[in-house]
Amino acid sequence: MDKSSLDPVLLEQLKKLQQKYAVMGQDLSSYLDGLLHADYLTYWDYIHLDTLLSLQNPKTQFPDEKVFIVYHQITELYFNLVLWEIEQIAAKEKLEEKFFVERLTRIVRYFQMLENSFSVMVDGMEKDQFLKFRMSLLPASGFQSAQYRIIEICSTDLINLVHVEFREAMMEYSDIEQQIEHLYWRSGATELASGKKTLTLQQFEEKYKKNFKETGMKYRDRNLRKIYLRHFPESHEVIKRLREFDELANVLWPLAHMRSAGRYLQRDPDNIKATGGTNWQKYLPPRFQKIMFFPELWNDQEKEEWGKAAIIKALQ
Ligand code: HEM
Repeated sequence: MDKSSLDPVLLEQLKKLQQKYAVMGQDLSSYLDGLLHADYLTYWDYIHLDTLLSLQNPKTQFPDEKVFIVYHQITELYFNLVLWEIEQIAAKEKLEEKFFVERLTRIVRYFQMLENSFSVMVDGMEKDQFLKFRMSLLPASGFQSAQYRIIEICSTDLINLVHVEFREAMMEYSDIEQQIEHLYWRSGATELASGKKTLTLQQFEEKYKKNFKETGMKYRDRNLRKIYLRHFPESHEVIKRLREFDELANVLWPLAHMRSAGRYLQRDPDNIKATGGTNWQKYLPPRFQKIMFFPELWNDQEKEEWGKAAIIKALQ
């Protein structure tokens, strides 16, 4: 081949590129000029490393506050991946079992990572430091994680997120407005002393309530539970994954999380101040909240003893 002539494969690629740009009325040659001047992509630019590492801004001088911030950020990134998988499932036109199972497996894997790593919080900070820097963060709380709430809303029907006391009575109504008013976590965020909504809850709702309602409407007919019941009610693989997800999201992760509250906050009323004054001992245990995304996948005894088996296993 003549050294000055272009490789036929390259020529073919150029032809295709020219066609691609012509469709949009664009001149390929100008874009090739741009390519000539463009820098090579680097790892650090691609993942925005500098930006990423500029997002940890402790409020105090205590070194362990960095651990606290970074671990929350890691968790939010995993929550984001969970939502990413759910969105793809919900958007799929012809959803096949294989695709559904694969995405559910990924979701389970993300939650396993979160459950397994929670020791970074439970054992990875000095208690004295935590109790001090935590006071500088009030009234902020992981309670205000909007992605966590959106995962819940996209996973099941809102009725399953209604506080257990009202759930049965509200079964007959399918009014989203009413259900949103009675979500289990709203009743959790009440001040011990006054019985009023905590500031943590007030601010959270001010920012996100509209978004939660819209997500509830959008996912009314395409949350994971609806998709499972409509398309794969008999699939063992789907059922297996959904049970794993339900247990991870509503028992195992909450228990791992609760261990951190147990380690740092205990039952000392002074320490309770560090949470914005909520009665977290009554609120956090899965056995009180009884949140299940897929209640039809658990028998009466499993429902009755929700969260109990995991605690016994953890104590063994
Ligand atoms: C030392 C670490 C932690 C402690 C002591 C702790 C403590 C608490 C407490 C006491 C509550 C109850 C609500 C309140 O009173 O504010 C709560 C709720 C919550 N926290 Fe944490 N937390 C820790 C780490 C985390 C992390 C890393 C995340 C990840 C995003 C997180 C996410 C949440 C969520 C989603 C709730 C609401 C749970 C629900 O509604 O069932 N927390 N936390």
